[in-house]
Amino acid sequence: MNGAFEKHILCIGAGYVGGPTMAMIAAKCPQYLVTIFDINEQKIRAWQTDNLPIFEPGLLNIVKRVRGKNLFFSTEIKENIRKADIIFVSVNTPTKSFGEGAGKSADLQYWEKTARDILKSSESDKIIVEKSTLPVRTASAMERILNSSDKKIKFEVVSNPEFLAEGTAIADLENPDRVLIGSQETESGRKARNEIVEIYANWVHRDKIITSNIWSSELSKLVANAFLAQRISSINSISALCEKTEADINEVANAVGKDSRICNKFLNASVGFGGSCFKKDILNLVYICESYGLNEVAEYWEHVVKINEYQQRRFVQNINKALFNTIANKRIALFGFAFKANTGDIRESPGIYIAKKLLEEQAHVVVTDPKALGNAKQELKGLSDKLEFEIEPYKAAKNAHAIAVVTEWDTYKTLDYGEIFQQMEKPAFIFDGRNILNHQRLY
Ligand SMILES: NC(=O)c1ccc[n+]([C@@H]2O[C@H](COP(=O)([O-])OP(=O)(O)OC[C@H]3O[C@@H](n4cnc5c(N)ncnc54)[C@H](O)[C@@H]3O)[C@@H](O)[C@H]2O)c1
Repeated sequence: MNGAFEKHILCIGAGYVGGPTMAMIAAKCPQYLVTIFDINEQKIRAWQTDNLPIFEPGLLNIVKRVRGKNLFFSTEIKENIRKADIIFVSVNTPTKSFGEGAGKSADLQYWEKTARDILKSSESDKIIVEKSTLPVRTASAMERILNSSDKKIKFEVVSNPEFLAEGTAIADLENPDRVLIGSQETESGRKARNEIVEIYANWVHRDKIITSNIWSSELSKLVANAFLAQRISSINSISALCEKTEADINEVANAVGKDSRICNKFLNASVGFGGSCFKKDILNLVYICESYGLNEVAEYWEHVVKINEYQQRRFVQNINKALFNTIANKRIALFGFAFKANTGDIRESPGIYIAKKLLEEQAHVVVTDPKALGNAKQELKGLSDKLEFEIEPYKAAKNAHAIAVVTEWDTYKTLDYGEIFQQMEKPAFIFDGRNILNHQRLY
């Protein structure tokens, strides 16, 4: 018991996962005191303003409701760890860029550092919740670190992977398809797991709260992302065949998706998936399979990523081909740069690859996006003097030879393309990389 609150929850990592998930817990559980800690002081300062460090529909409303009441943001770690009963860890776990496993395995240095921080400052028993996406069996490493001192403190490690999707995070958190909580199948493990179940049961129906052993829980998150990405690569691979055979990918997807065993979700051909998770998590799965000698399984999943890269390459090649194999000095407007609609996040966005390739061909690239222009500027800074950023899509397209739709923002679906076309160089082209205009329009 901490003062007037039943429990003190600490979250380490105030990013796309830590911020929204803790805001939701604070809003749904006024009896808990929730503190979010991050090493990035600028980010913590931004969370305390109305200019949050991430854009997510509905997030600011929910943060404003609870901030300063039972939700706090902090850069102080020791005291917060000491006071916490439950610590969620949602630090980033990017792909390793060096040494053994480079390019595939997860870089767990941020993760391990939090385990050591927790151990150093703890004076009482705690439940440690793996919120980050982690390789299966990470919990055993975490437990070994946490139990490596003679402090006589009991740490119980629980896995509670996050399934929210950026752009719909608040709706996903409020009404999740499921919440997954895994623990060791020991008495203390099950007790800790039940404590986490009780947090979510404040607003999630108990039928949707799944419990499992800790390894199943860790692995399920990687597998869920691999399956989602696999559907995108499957339909994209067929789009290449459609282009050769005059079959229409939308008609094929529609016919295939009507089968209730297949269903129509995630069956929209596009320029490919982006985001910080799909590629990283599949490559991590590939690495884990390889490390167990499951080479056929590893190769199978690696192809999901390869098809995604192939699709992005093909998109740029198609632009080049349509523009008579010469795009030098041609103005090309990229409609969208975020990796998906309703977010400012550009991590692994196909827009990065497309912009860089077009600039290599010395095209004049104009990037427009309602929320991601700041991040786009940072990403592409200094690459070319033929690069422009323009918030207004009509202006971006003015005098352009082509538009490439990179992000499926609603606003791009309702533009007056007749008017835009009038202002473009002729022949004008629209390459619909998100399949939002029904079909690729070629004027
Ligand atoms: N973004 C998503 O849509 C999503 C969805 C589900 C799961 N995940 C997983 O959740 C995890 C976090 O992802 P994210 O998108 O929130 O990442 P993020 O980069 O937005 O946030 C991570 C935060 O952790 C902080 N951090 C790193 N090391 C720290 C330390 N030692 N102490 C305190 N703070 C530290 C960073 O400063 C950063 O603010 C990843 O494992 C990711 O795979 C992400």
